[in-house]
Amino acid sequence: MVFLTRRLHFNAAHRVYNPTWSDEQNEKVFGMCANKNWHGHNYELEITVYGRPNTDTGFVMDLNDLKRIVREAVIYKLDHKNLNLDVEFMKGIIPTTENLVIAMWKELHPKLLPVQLYSLKLYETPRNFVEYRGDK
Ligand code: NI
Repeated sequence: MVFLTRRLHFNAAHRVYNPTWSDEQNEKVFGMCANKNWHGHNYELEITVYGRPNTDTGFVMDLNDLKRIVREAVIYKLDHKNLNLDVEFMKGIIPTTENLVIAMWKELHPKLLPVQLYSLKLYETPRNFVEYRGDK
């Protein structure tokens, strides 16, 4: 198997809070991330697909196709958007990096088939990131 990775960028605003909690409880658990007037992040996404190189092309997947599919499925819907208000697939979901990466997987996985998705690494800051490999 060969694992092929592409890195993509987007930035977005959010507020991490639980709407069923009081302001005090939200501030205690989420700190500055619960700031009512939003804050933003420069996100980096690393998407990894895998397979055997095609005998005609030598590619696991054409990188231009990968880039286009990821942009259309998630990046254009997230870039310069508010994750709490603007993004249909994040409606009703607390926009932590963990929840965001799972939601992005659900959007991406069916659009990549028959190419198999291996992992999504989502960096919220250069030092904080999550990695999701699906529910296995
Ligand atoms: Ni944040």
